[in-house]
Amino acid sequence: MPSLESGVTLALRNRFPWHGFDPGRVALIHRGWFANAIIFRYRDQAYDLAIKDFSHSPPLIRETLGRFFIAREHRILQHLKGVPGIAPGSCRLSDTMLAYPYVEGESLAALRRRGARLPATFFQALEKTVRAMHLRGIVHLDLRNLGNILCGIERRPYLIDFQSALRIDRATRRLQALLRAADLSGVYKSWLALCDEPLALHKRRFLERFNQVRRLWPLRGYPLAGRLGRLS
Ligand SMILES: Nc1ncnc2c1ncn2[C@@H]1O[C@H](COP(=O)(O)OP(=O)(O)O)[C@@H](O)[C@H]1O
Ligand SMILES: [Mg+2]
Repeated sequence: MPSLESGVTLALRNRFPWHGFDPGRVALIHRGWFANAIIFRYRDQAYDLAIKDFSHSPPLIRETLGRFFIAREHRILQHLKGVPGIAPGSCRLSDTMLAYPYVEGESLAALRRRGARLPATFFQALEKTVRAMHLRGIVHLDLRNLGNILCGIERRPYLIDFQSALRIDRATRRLQALLRAADLSGVYKSWLALCDEPLALHKRRFLERFNQVRRLWPLRGYPLAGRLGRLS
């Protein structure tokens, strides 16, 4: 049976036929629960890539969610090209495999696990990236998960994992505010988890209000977005 690594190498060779890809340079870096993709890293002197691969998921997942997530993440990353702190584009290796530049560093989830701390400037830069993404009409929607924010070796923030991201330019203003608030709540949540400097009072209040509305949301649904009008 071919190894997981050889599938990635084959896809890379098909996409970049002029380069000699070596299966020995593929490393598995993350394996989520069964419906999630496997994340590989391919590194040699010319390429350093993270590769999201659904090709080994159960066929039903691969052919539905897998294809859908890869197509969506690729589309969104193309739309966000040029936003600092977001991978400068992505490359579709197949219907179920996507490659983007590897970010040398660690996720905030890993930093939190080992008790590391980050300066306020990191989170200010993170908020700037999130607001720049919002200006392009995109919300990420999974930033409360600290595995989706990376800290590069030069201590700059990077957003990854746009498979639940959405274009919101056609949504109502209230819904847009609610969805943007969900992203900002992830920024402030990560500040509280990893920074010794205090979060500004108005941002703490924003987070408290968001958390309250979030708790009620499944019960009352979208109309609660009204209370969030004040959050934007
Ligand atoms: N471009 C990248 N550079 C460095 N590490 C990455 C990159 N993409 C993913 N990773 C690593 O893989 C993990 C899971 O990736 P992610 O895209 O969030 O997949 P999932 O859909 O399983 O959450 C991240 O937390 C990070 O550690
Ligand atoms: Mg993720």
